[in-house]
Amino acid sequence: MFLHGTSRHNDLGHLEIGGIDTTELAKKYGTPLYIYDIALVRDRARSFKKAFEEARISAQVAYASKAFSSIAMVQIAKEEGLSLDVVSGGELYTAVAAGFPSERIHFHGNNKSYEELSMALSHDVGCIVVDNFHEISQLEKAAREHGKTVSVLLRVTPGVEAHTHDYITTGQEDSKFGFDLHNGQAEQAAKNVLASDAFNLLGIHCHIGSQIFDATGFVLAADKIFAKLAEWRESYGFEPKVLNLGGGFGIRYTKEDEPLPPGEYVKHMIQAVKTNADRYSFRVPEIWIEPGRSLVGDAGTTLYQIGSKKVVPGLREYVAVNGGMSDNIRPALYQAKYEAAIANKMNASHNKKASVAGKLCESGDMLIWDIDLPETEAGDLLAVFCTGAYGYSMANNYNRIPRPAVVFVEDGKDQLVIKRETFEDLIHLDLPYKSIVEQK
Ligand code: LLP
Repeated sequence: MFLHGTSRHNDLGHLEIGGIDTTELAKKYGTPLYIYDIALVRDRARSFKKAFEEARISAQVAYASKAFSSIAMVQIAKEEGLSLDVVSGGELYTAVAAGFPSERIHFHGNNKSYEELSMALSHDVGCIVVDNFHEISQLEKAAREHGKTVSVLLRVTPGVEAHTHDYITTGQEDSKFGFDLHNGQAEQAAKNVLASDAFNLLGIHCHIGSQIFDATGFVLAADKIFAKLAEWRESYGFEPKVLNLGGGFGIRYTKEDEPLPPGEYVKHMIQAVKTNADRYSFRVPEIWIEPGRSLVGDAGTTLYQIGSKKVVPGLREYVAVNGGMSDNIRPALYQAKYEAAIANKMNASHNKKASVAGKLCESGDMLIWDIDLPETEAGDLLAVFCTGAYGYSMANNYNRIPRPAVVFVEDGKDQLVIKRETFEDLIHLDLPYKSIVEQK
């Protein structure tokens, strides 16, 4: 077991994060509880930014807020001078409510509604990442209605798909997102956007995957995009101001995971962009990136209380916790792997194999299979690490389980940033049934 950020064992043998004993957090806020190590979030944000600053490259590091969208986390992104990627009216609403500077908001999505586009224009978001032909016509209409010129990036699929250490390159990509770079659709989109005075085409966007452990895919994507940009310059005289290479930088969920440090991904990207700009005689464009997981993923820890146990003799010991796929659907959905420890027994040796079960009515609701833990008993606190990205943001109310509270810790202080859902919250949208006969 290894610990992230400020996490450590304290003198009582308890897990401490941000200078706070997590067993005290459990007493104060209850469990399950999401705990975010804010110093670690800041450290990541600064590492990404520093790599660009040291290379004197104009850049925007946008927090992909889908990883964990909440007012408080958006405010941390603002404090750190990040930009913000939003993918829905709801994420945009959260950003606005958090007071995030709208000129640094980038709006994504493969099926933005007219209302969402209109909302983005009312708030003067910095740029809209245009995904498809329907959106071009809808956005043009909205821009005219608002009397505004819209800055846009074109999202392209470059035929590079990356995941962990593997990448696949194809001539054409089978994806619901963006314009294909190789079958003429991206060029047609660029032509349409350039022909309209409703748009200011800033440049190109691509996102090649998630939980990526090396830089090869980003370099290949940059190569493919620049080759096309050189063709488009011949035809349309277009020079990009911005190249957005997306997010997807990996984190260390388990000891098998070996991502690069944030600055390394950036260095390879910068190198690739400079080489290509030089090769085709372009000015070096601004480089934008969109990390989500790598900013908040390993900063998050979920604290559960252990309840029942079931021993299947000769086979397995199931240890059940008071949450599960309602607060972390990733193991069920992606077979995602996590490390864990007993927060109140950090010095005990991990000499017992167990499988951690959730409390939801589904056999697939298993958080961790076959993990080495100390001997546990009811009331112990299980800490599952690296749950900060796509945990709370994908939480749900299956079995009418209320969503956990979220607390930020930093420098020995804790702060509640999302309240625990109550049973009243669970039914607050419900309306009682009235018989149809009665209504007449
Ligand atoms: N930019 C775009 C256009 C994206 O689609 C994504 C993630 C990101 C940035 C941020 O990627 P990150 O740095 O977080 O890997 N629910 C899945 C992950 C879905 C990612 C979707 N797009 C999971 O839990 O693993």
